[in-house]
Amino acid sequence: MTTMSEDRDIPVSGGGPHGGDGTGGHWSAGPGRPLPTPASGPQDRSASGPRTASATSAEAPPDAGATDPPPVPVPPVAGPTGEDIELIRRTLAEIKPVADKVTGHFYALLFLRDPGLRDLFPAAMDTQRDRLFSALLTAARHAGDPAALTAYLSDLGRGHRKYGTRAEHYPAVGECLIGALTRYAHHTWSPAAETAWVRAYTLISQIMIDAAAEDERRSPASWQAEIVSHERRTPDTAVLRLRPDQPYPFRAGQYTSVETPWWPRVWRHYSFAGAPSADGTLTFHVKAVPAGWVSGALVHRARPGDVLRIGPPVGNMIVDHSTDNGLLCLGGGTGIAPIKALVEDVAEYGRRRLVDVFYGARTDQELYDLETMLRLERAHPWLSVHPVVGDGCPVRAAGLTGQVPDAILGAGTWTGYDGYVSGPPGMIRSGVHALRRAGIPQDRIRHDSFETISAFQAPALAGE
Ligand SMILES: Cc1cc2nc3c(=O)[nH]c(=O)nc-3n(C[C@H](O)[C@H](O)[C@H](O)COP(=O)(O)OP(=O)(O)OC[C@H]3O[C@@H](n4cnc5c(N)ncnc54)[C@H](O)[C@@H]3O)c2cc1C
Ligand code: HEM
Repeated sequence: MTTMSEDRDIPVSGGGPHGGDGTGGHWSAGPGRPLPTPASGPQDRSASGPRTASATSAEAPPDAGATDPPPVPVPPVAGPTGEDIELIRRTLAEIKPVADKVTGHFYALLFLRDPGLRDLFPAAMDTQRDRLFSALLTAARHAGDPAALTAYLSDLGRGHRKYGTRAEHYPAVGECLIGALTRYAHHTWSPAAETAWVRAYTLISQIMIDAAAEDERRSPASWQAEIVSHERRTPDTAVLRLRPDQPYPFRAGQYTSVETPWWPRVWRHYSFAGAPSADGTLTFHVKAVPAGWVSGALVHRARPGDVLRIGPPVGNMIVDHSTDNGLLCLGGGTGIAPIKALVEDVAEYGRRRLVDVFYGARTDQELYDLETMLRLERAHPWLSVHPVVGDGCPVRAAGLTGQVPDAILGAGTWTGYDGYVSGPPGMIRSGVHALRRAGIPQDRIRHDSFETISAFQAPALAGE
């Protein structure tokens, strides 16, 4: 088992103006805490060699361990300071124009250092872009809110199990991250900046490792799910119903990651298009984007009987049942899928709350789930569904024309409502702005994640 101290003799990239000492020792000698030492973490117990992300059967949750030794207590990790976060932001601002190069260099260092790790990643690395940096920036943004930080990173850590990521991989990733930054952040890199990054990465990794270890005790890393029905609603939109091979607990409004047999190790996110069902099946709405790998395969190639792999549920766009506030829901395109799940959740919970759904698409035909939403409206007097189609299009069902965010601003006052937004990134951005303008405070607005959007757009999107 690799520990940080064992790692010291593995050269890091070194190189830059304030590069490491070439031993990797700075990771454990820094003024913060050493990088997490996997040997002391609970995940160690079941680390049984690398799995490829395309394993053909889901791992059963290990017996939660009558024979397991009690976990060794890990002292709390000192997180980054406010000054650290500022230094991290400055580094990110400097590398923004060369983000592709930094990312490319990071992966080159990683695969040179540990060629075996290449098998965990998809054949084509083009979609990798800056997701690691994006996640780090999201973590930095949440730094002042430990609960949100832990929730976000715990989801991320649990989600990494399906890739075959193990605790001992984290130091390598950290070293290569620092190596890449050292090389490209010429002006903002300094011993203090390096310390800041080490502290932040150490904290982030520890939260991810702990969450993965905890998850391993009760859940598989991924589920196999057979397609039991496949219905084409428009030429490029399909509704898929899947039956997972093991119980799959999730909350309405969440999403998961999906891998198809045709693109091994290529994972994409899809939202559950309904609240948990009695028969345990899961429904997804998928729109094939032009030249889209996974969406194209799911819409045009997938058939009943095909088996997909799905990761754990993630996301916090869930109904807050502790309040009687109304729900103002904005769904664009397939963004209506999790909104429909929220409506079903409110219906099942049984407490009467006003729910207004603005369902937007460019054309009438693209409102592929309007009939379902109108059926729900007929069944529930507390629900109002407002179809909205792009300017100049004919409108079904006495709907509105224009964009969803404008439509809500023209349609009433929304104080006393919680906001929910789902759809393409641009719509999430404008939807959140519109909800704020409508008087709904930020802490009562929930939306699909920003962290899958580029690190270098995220602060602007979040309005921070
Ligand atoms: C939280 C979350 C939930 C999501 N839920 C759903 C869902 O329920 N249903 C659903 O269909 N999708 C959903 N998506 C989008 C989905 O994850 C994929 O991004 C999408 O299916 C494209 O993947 P792909 O592999 O087919 O395309 P890729 O191979 O990744 O991309 C191919 C090309 O299409 C471009 N592209 C990517 N997305 C779009 C787009 N939306 N419109 C136009 N061009 C695009 C890319 O830039 C690239 O040039 C969700 C995304 C997130 C972050
Ligand atoms: C602090 C540490 C890390 C952070 C913040 C991080 C962040 C991310 C993010 C945001 C993604 C995008 C997909 C998702 O949300 O799951 C991702 C994907 C991935 N990560 Fe990490 N990661 C970290 C450590 C690691 C480690 C140690 C490994 C193991 C080598 C690893 C392997 C992968 C793989 C294989 C993918 C999938 C790639 C793909 O889908 O194309 N990550 N990571």
